[in-house]
Amino acid sequence: METPGRLLPPHFYDMEKIQRTRDELEVGDQDVFIVTFPKSGTHWMVEIVSLIYSKGDPTWVKSSPMWKRSACVEINYAVEMVKDKAKPRLFTSHLPIHLFPKAYFTSKAKMIYVARNPRDIITSLYHFQRQLPFCQTLFSFEQIIESFLQGNPVLGSWFDHIKGWLPMRDSEKFLFFTYEELIQDLKASVEKICHFLGKELSEEEISSVLKNASFPVMKKHILENKEPMPLENMEPFKVKIMRKGESVVSGIGGSIGRCSTSPPAS
Ligand code: PPS
Repeated sequence: METPGRLLPPHFYDMEKIQRTRDELEVGDQDVFIVTFPKSGTHWMVEIVSLIYSKGDPTWVKSSPMWKRSACVEINYAVEMVKDKAKPRLFTSHLPIHLFPKAYFTSKAKMIYVARNPRDIITSLYHFQRQLPFCQTLFSFEQIIESFLQGNPVLGSWFDHIKGWLPMRDSEKFLFFTYEELIQDLKASVEKICHFLGKELSEEEISSVLKNASFPVMKKHILENKEPMPLENMEPFKVKIMRKGESVVSGIGGSIGRCSTSPPAS
């Protein structure tokens, strides 16, 4: 099989800035980080945490795009981006553990790591590439699998990402979550996240979090919010993040719910 190129152009991630952020980012004890391998439910977790912070009131998620509510550690220069932001701050990141801001490890800041079954990640990537303005040739499904196995030059492979972060599970400031858990029981998941963040919400507030973090309502909010994220090295572009939001398994290690080896239909 022909070796696939890369989904993202080399200048998408600026390694020098990532290393500076790793060394220089000041982390507050109340800050919260959401860490994922791409296409694992980053936006969903940010929406849930944002809604928990606003006690179910959707005003914030409706009026502010995800990238404004949560600074991405590796895109642009996070140190500059958050310098005027009041703490506690919400961050997202796809970084592997060895590139992550060092100050997190000595702080009391909390982290939610979301893992997703790789088959769904690959399917999600397959459809996502079609929207990237810099993708000159579309990858076949087999090439996407090959590229996934090779790993991204900065983020590494899914396998190394999980292997790197998993030992943090023993820490009480780290919550390991799966996309599949969210799909299976959103209410129990939201309650678990509230408990982890030390937030107490009433039944009514929880119901509002569930409603506003549901696939159709969240999709509507994202579609209404058209402001694209500014990017330092390139033109900003707008992509559809929410395609189907499904899972092939009923849980990690659970039974296969949807099984096909052919490229998935859009
Ligand atoms: S990114 O671009 O890496 O930040 O993408 P990420 O947000 O990590 O993952 C995108 C996938 O998450 C799905 N998603 C959801 N699923 C169910 N319910 C809700 N509310 C939800 N929000 C986002 C989204 O649809 C992407 O999965 P696919 O399989 O492509 O639909």
